[in-house]
Amino acid sequence: MITERAKRIRPFQVMEILERAREMERKGRDIIHMEIGEPDFPSPPSVKEAAIKAIEKDYTFYTPTLGLPLLREAISRYYEREYGLKVPAERVVITEGSSGAFLLLSLTLLERGRVLGITDPGYPCYRNFGHLAEAGLITIPLSEEDGYEIDPVAFEERGVPDLFIIANPSNPTGKVYRKEGLERIYRAIEGKGLLVVDEVYSGLVYDGGFDTALSIADDIIVVNGFSKTFAMTGWRLGWMVIPEGLIPPVQRMAQNIFISPPTISQHAALKALEAKRDLEEMRRTFKERRDFLLERLEGMGFTITCKPEGAFYIYAGIKRWKMDSRVFAERALEEAGVAITPGYDFGSYRASEYVRFSYTQGMERLREGCKRLESWLKRL
Ligand SMILES: Cc1ncc(COP(=O)(O)O)c(C=O)c1O
Repeated sequence: MITERAKRIRPFQVMEILERAREMERKGRDIIHMEIGEPDFPSPPSVKEAAIKAIEKDYTFYTPTLGLPLLREAISRYYEREYGLKVPAERVVITEGSSGAFLLLSLTLLERGRVLGITDPGYPCYRNFGHLAEAGLITIPLSEEDGYEIDPVAFEERGVPDLFIIANPSNPTGKVYRKEGLERIYRAIEGKGLLVVDEVYSGLVYDGGFDTALSIADDIIVVNGFSKTFAMTGWRLGWMVIPEGLIPPVQRMAQNIFISPPTISQHAALKALEAKRDLEEMRRTFKERRDFLLERLEGMGFTITCKPEGAFYIYAGIKRWKMDSRVFAERALEEAGVAITPGYDFGSYRASEYVRFSYTQGMERLREGCKRLESWLKRL
């Protein structure tokens, strides 16, 4: 009875690594987790207090499908405050994590005969959203030698997708795309397909600031969320800004699939948008870790020619050790007690040559992880 659709969805490699790591931990082994893609910080105190208050006030009912009007307005003001942009609250849709936004977008805009475009390497779930909607897929291979830039010529060669999703900052490369680069991609697909920019890491940029794609054109769809920038993964709350014409179909889809986004989380999120001091502190800490880890990994011989400027990942080249990334990650876990993610989780293009490090651990643990890796690599 299981559908082909369900059968074709693969688990992440990282889940196998995580399971093996947990098993080793149960047997008493200490493992440094550099595979996990979520902030190690708890949510800001004001967010937690707001959630408790919301429960005490019995805010436990459904909200409107597109979200609490107060939160949609607060997000509209957030764009004005952060980027000086006027984004009407009507175009802001609150979703169940940014993942909820991707589900709504793919079911509203993709179907059999249409094509989803993604980057390789890229965030692994995108392709599955396209797959659920029975759309075709084109992948645009990205090389670190080209700074992970997307050359619009690729669309001439492979065709323009109906929907092209790109993460900025990127998971797994930490690449931050600047406005000019995004504009080039937008122009290349304008009139033929829609550009979706996933800005879920937009608050975690360490060098040179950030340009939201909303500053380019009103028909670019921007997805964002509270998970990463606001350290709220478990609250399952995100949002997207969509062109006016998409509001009615998205609303109908959301009504039927979700009814409403989580109410308590929405009340809490109102405070998250104001927690600038906590968030800045978190960003500073991540930057410190990035600087440390980058230097250490380069010192050990990993190649990282395109500096990761955002998110909390370093996509590091391992070619010099002449080992497949899957084997490399397995051996790093078994022999050094360090869990990392093999490149295969992010696509197939040169996936054997890269592993992803997450710096979602405190400095002590990162230092220890590097020490272990270094002595393991010397023994190879
Ligand atoms: C690029 C990117 N987009 C979206 C998500 C999903 O985030 P959420 O559904 O928690 O908002 C992730 C999670 O790792 C991610 O890395």
